Amino acid sequence: MSRETTLVEPTIARSVEAARTAVGAAREAGQRIGLVPTMGALHEGHLSLIDHARHSCDFVVVTIFVNPTQFGPRDDFSQYPRTWEADLEFIRERRSQLVFAPSAEEMYSACHSTVVCPPKVAETLEGEFRPGHFTGVTTVVLKLMQIVAADVAFFGEKDFQQCLVIRDMVRDLNVPIEVNCCPTIREPDGLAMSSRNRYLSPDDRQQALSLNRGLELAKSMVARGEREVSAIEAAVRACIEASGAGSIDYVAIRDSDQLGFMDVLDRPAVLLLAVHVGSARLIDNTRLDV
Ligand code: PAJ
Repeated sequence: MSRETTLVEPTIARSVEAARTAVGAAREAGQRIGLVPTMGALHEGHLSLIDHARHSCDFVVVTIFVNPTQFGPRDDFSQYPRTWEADLEFIRERRSQLVFAPSAEEMYSACHSTVVCPPKVAETLEGEFRPGHFTGVTTVVLKLMQIVAADVAFFGEKDFQQCLVIRDMVRDLNVPIEVNCCPTIREPDGLAMSSRNRYLSPDDRQQALSLNRGLELAKSMVARGEREVSAIEAAVRACIEASGAGSIDYVAIRDSDQLGFMDVLDRPAVLLLAVHVGSARLIDNTRLDV
């Protein structure tokens, strides 16, 4: 059997203590430890993070935890897909050493009351449309980093703002971990992979393609010399509206370091989208480098 097809039976830790013990043993053995936090319902986007982790680490820890504190009252927490058996099969194929899959009670005891106030970059965009979301994210990610004392943690640029939020939290709170943000994995037709894509009907799926079409349109406008942010945003908005997709939360070009407003593309920028399609809310982004 070639190395690529070898299945590795990962250790499964349900408790914080079991996770600490397994990670502690790897650390004792001098292994470099990689952390891949997820909410499960794994797809090739998540798996690419595992591949990145395996590439630079000896001991890869995947966490699967649908974190209740990052969902708002109108969000899809109870409907969020939970596909444990399929997730485990993927993890075996991609050869991670440890899966940490705690219950909500294990992560949040009845008396839990401390939260992490997210950095400034969390205030805009997702922070405006999903109040409290990033407080849930920073709190759970810091907890995961405390439980799994890894050398490096892997996140996807698919959630571009989340990457910046984690990067700044780690810097501000001196968390001894490297943050590695990895490229977005897409379906062959360009749709960014997402656990929420499984909510899409065939018609929704067609409308969802307008997000990537919008990103490509923006890149081609920039390639043709357009530098005016409002002109690009308007064209992308029109492209998405023409597809018949639902309401647009935002189409925004921002500086790619702090997500500040900009009028012209005179520094590294990112175009971020959040659009409702059917019952799903999809996000996507691309860098717009001049
Ligand atoms: P989740 O949505 O499960 O995503 C887990 C990780 O996979 C995130 O870092 C996300 O950016 C990355 N990811 C998702 N789709 C991707 C794609 N198409 N290409 C590349 N990477 C992709 O994000 C979360 O969970 C949670 O907020 C979490 C960080 C786990 C905290 O609860």
